[in-house]
Amino acid sequence: MEPRITLYDKTFVPFISARRLTEAIDRVAEKINADFADARDVPVLLCILNGSLVFTSELMKRLTFPLELACTRLSSYVGTSSTGQVRQTLTLPEHLEGRRVIVVEDIVDTGNTISALSGMLQERKVAEVRICTLLLKPEAYHKEIPLDYVALEIPNRFIVGFGLDYDQIGRNLPEIYVLENS
Ligand code: IMP
Ligand code: MG
Repeated sequence: MEPRITLYDKTFVPFISARRLTEAIDRVAEKINADFADARDVPVLLCILNGSLVFTSELMKRLTFPLELACTRLSSYVGTSSTGQVRQTLTLPEHLEGRRVIVVEDIVDTGNTISALSGMLQERKVAEVRICTLLLKPEAYHKEIPLDYVALEIPNRFIVGFGLDYDQIGRNLPEIYVLENS
């Protein structure tokens, strides 16, 4: 990994290597496969753009049961902090009624995004919602919604890479970097 990376006005240092990411994704995929191995339905894997694009593509390659991929887009972040307001900028796919949905998030921070999304999915009368997230900031998360699959827990610091951005840049970094001195 690069010893430091500059994105606009901020400096980031190495935090999670590609190897740790791969191992964590392997583990979480194994759990999901165990839970869905005997599924008679075709669950929907719902990628929350843009952040979870990279995680979703890595995760879905490891899932061994028939599934349907769908995408939606929600955003709550401006710069390095959550605004608390979740905007849906790409509508949910049709045909969700009665389906089991596995939501794939890059990171759960305050939980505003998944809680807003869970509400939208209940309105669509889905059969079940499970949440799968690559990262969780437990110190920031105070919602009741259970997180079914968490690949890695991290402290409450601002990170970029592997799909996560700082003002829309840094998503293409293959590893995760953390804001220096945060
Ligand atoms: P929440 O709604 O506060 O849980 O925030 C979730 C969303 O905020 C995630 O899907 C990310 O897009 C973004 N986010 C939260 N923490 C970070 C971070 O450390 N770096 C980059 N984006 C983040
Ligand atoms: Mg996101």
